[in-house]
Amino acid sequence: MAQHQTLTKTGATAPAEEGQRKVYVKTYGCQMNVYDSDRMADALASDGYVRVETPEEADLYLINTCHIREKAAEKVYSELGRLQKQKRRATAGAKDFVVGVTGCVAQAEGEEIFNRSPVVDLVVGPQTYHRLPAAVERARAGERVLETDYAMEDKFDKLPPPREKAVRARGVSAFLTVQEGCDKFCAFCVVPYTRGSEVSRSVAQIVGEAKKLVDAGVREITLLGQNVNAWHGEGEDGREWGLGELLHRLAAVDGLERLRYTTSHPRDMDDALIAAHRDLPQLMPYLHLPVQSGSDRILKAMNRRHKAEDYLRLIDRIRTARPDLALSGDFIVGFPGETDADFDATMRLVEEVGYAQAYSFKYSQRPGTPGAEFGDQVPDPVKAERLERLQSLLTEQQFAFQRQCVGREVDLLLEKPGRWENQTVGRSPWLQPTIVDARGAEIGDIIKVRIIRTEANSLFAERL
Ligand code: 5AD
Ligand code: SF4
Repeated sequence: MAQHQTLTKTGATAPAEEGQRKVYVKTYGCQMNVYDSDRMADALASDGYVRVETPEEADLYLINTCHIREKAAEKVYSELGRLQKQKRRATAGAKDFVVGVTGCVAQAEGEEIFNRSPVVDLVVGPQTYHRLPAAVERARAGERVLETDYAMEDKFDKLPPPREKAVRARGVSAFLTVQEGCDKFCAFCVVPYTRGSEVSRSVAQIVGEAKKLVDAGVREITLLGQNVNAWHGEGEDGREWGLGELLHRLAAVDGLERLRYTTSHPRDMDDALIAAHRDLPQLMPYLHLPVQSGSDRILKAMNRRHKAEDYLRLIDRIRTARPDLALSGDFIVGFPGETDADFDATMRLVEEVGYAQAYSFKYSQRPGTPGAEFGDQVPDPVKAERLERLQSLLTEQQFAFQRQCVGREVDLLLEKPGRWENQTVGRSPWLQPTIVDARGAEIGDIIKVRIIRTEANSLFAERL
């Protein structure tokens, strides 16, 4: 499953020196894009590029794009439209302002991007990021560069490992991609086409990168994959391991205090992974496990290959293993053929599960996916009305969960200074930003606190 939607944290930037090349990376879409943007910036650093915070300073502007819904893809073209002025100012003959499109729109639309937007100099898909530095050089020399063809073995570890300095600046919580691509072919989803088929990194590669992150001050790692719990890689004993075993191995890395993984498919939650939730205190009690719909008819049309009841029983088993587990999910309303009764089944499932947090979307027809060809597309006003009802239920559940946290004693991982003096922002086990007076403790420490009150998006705590 491709993950989330909002523009997430940007990577570390540094002051540029006179004459130094400067890259600005704008990241849309999921956490894997955030991770990829950081790795691209790392790769370009070897060519002397420093990452800058404002687009106006940049002489290389990369837009790392998302194709998951139409709206996400359209943002790219409006962004490119805005860049036209800057491009005209800069390009008085020389290629001193290079614009590149990377990510899933690059993969899906390829050449078409050049046709639609004259400002673009290079288009590089997610499977060919190792060719980015060379592509930038060619673009600088005046070529229009398209890099979207790849072989399976291209997919991983062609980019340099994360640089210590950059990791330090990014903070105590880091992403680590362990798996990429998807073989599930849900009928609505572009990911199997843009990110290609599933590949997993080996345990040695993952543990190596995790140790580097920890040496640079990282305390929490979130393992990433479009279908992360389908990860199956070569273990240290030469056997094939599953995600449960990988989590056990990572929990043994000294100094790595917290583990998370996202995003998972219900069909790949195996016994070993469920047991890891019971046995590993480092594995945080928070799970993003999308179900998409509560109607068996729609689940079948979506090619999800499980029923609502399977999902509910699975949740029971995971909650038995880890009773304080909080759940998050993704939902699509208005998939072709969805009736009022189907939608009601989704509302009932949400009521039964009780989510701490969730993302929900109107179905968006994606070119090339089976769903786009289905008859019986649901009219937009119907989708809008259903989305509103679903979101108000989910928001209510989120607030209820926040309120339940008040009075609890929890471990807080301190992430950054707060807005006011003597305030520090930490993360609860359930991913909530939590504000505390932590004088005497340092960023990266895990401290015991009691939650004393909640606000819309954060909790407030006192130190114990
Ligand atoms: N329309 C709406 N939502 C979609 N998602 C994926 N494809 C589509 C689509 N065509 C949602 C799913 C997925 C999340 C990342 O985005 O809920 O889990
Ligand atoms: Fe997730 Fe299904 Fe898309 Fe694969 S095809 S990324 S499982 S939503």
